[in-house]
Amino acid sequence: MNEEPQGPVAVDPIDTTTPHSARMWNFWLGGKDNYPADRALGAAMAEAYPQIVDIARASRRFQARAVRHLAQEVGIRQFLDLGTGLPTAEPTHEVAQKVAPEARVVYVDNDPIVLAHARALLTGRPEGATAYVPADLTDAETVLREADKILDREQPVALMLLSTLGHVTDDARAAALLHTYLDAFPAGSHLVLCDTIETPVTRAASDEYADGGALPYVSRPAATLRSFADELDLLDPGFGSISLWRPDEPLTGDPVDQWGFVAAKR
Ligand SMILES: C[S@@+](CC[C@H](N)C(=O)[O-])C[C@H]1O[C@@H](n2cnc3c(N)ncnc32)[C@H](O)[C@@H]1O
Repeated sequence: MNEEPQGPVAVDPIDTTTPHSARMWNFWLGGKDNYPADRALGAAMAEAYPQIVDIARASRRFQARAVRHLAQEVGIRQFLDLGTGLPTAEPTHEVAQKVAPEARVVYVDNDPIVLAHARALLTGRPEGATAYVPADLTDAETVLREADKILDREQPVALMLLSTLGHVTDDARAAALLHTYLDAFPAGSHLVLCDTIETPVTRAASDEYADGGALPYVSRPAATLRSFADELDLLDPGFGSISLWRPDEPLTGDPVDQWGFVAAKR
């Protein structure tokens, strides 16, 4: 089944004067779906912290490798991708449905420009299902209610937050949110997570990001990020820079400061 949207998609007015997470990410990825405010702050940040461009690319590649591994080696057929971002190369549904055409994917983002591009996210294979939910990922009740239209909660789900949980800046709230989502899914479900680890340099970059008017994004100490998998079983190679997570090409340059893991619910 493929959930094509019916008729025109209602879109909130897009505020082009304030830098937005999804559009700055798109700028660092070399995309065209961004505005002067996004480019100005994006360029300033790339100058102060050049690795941000490598991080955006590494995050996308990690996502594709993780989805491929989960679909191919673990047999996961359902994906809930929170903080989807703008459509770009190798989106979750494309990677998953290439392995398993029947894979079901729900995307969630609250940025109106992502909603405006939702159709591009909804071109999944007819054997599977792809849906886009415009919602705040911190409102797990709404997200889960909408996801229920596509996902079968009796079957394992891969919960994905790629370079997104840093927007939930309070550690306890972030941990509670992960618990809420994972509690909703059966054993054998997985969490795919990555975010920036805190160093003096990444802390300064996060401050510059928030000072520039964008939605704050915190880097976290590696131990805090790791603790989000405390009750889960880490898949090899465990927790570390995503550059080193089952790489499919030789590493050029240093591993990025974006660390993460893929872990299974017991
Ligand atoms: C840095 S981008 C990462 C995009 C994508 N996951 C990737 O790795 O390429 C973070 C995304 O999270 C979304 N986001 C931030 N806070 C959110 C929230 N409370 N609810 C839904 N989406 C949110 C932003 O709109 C943006 O698209």
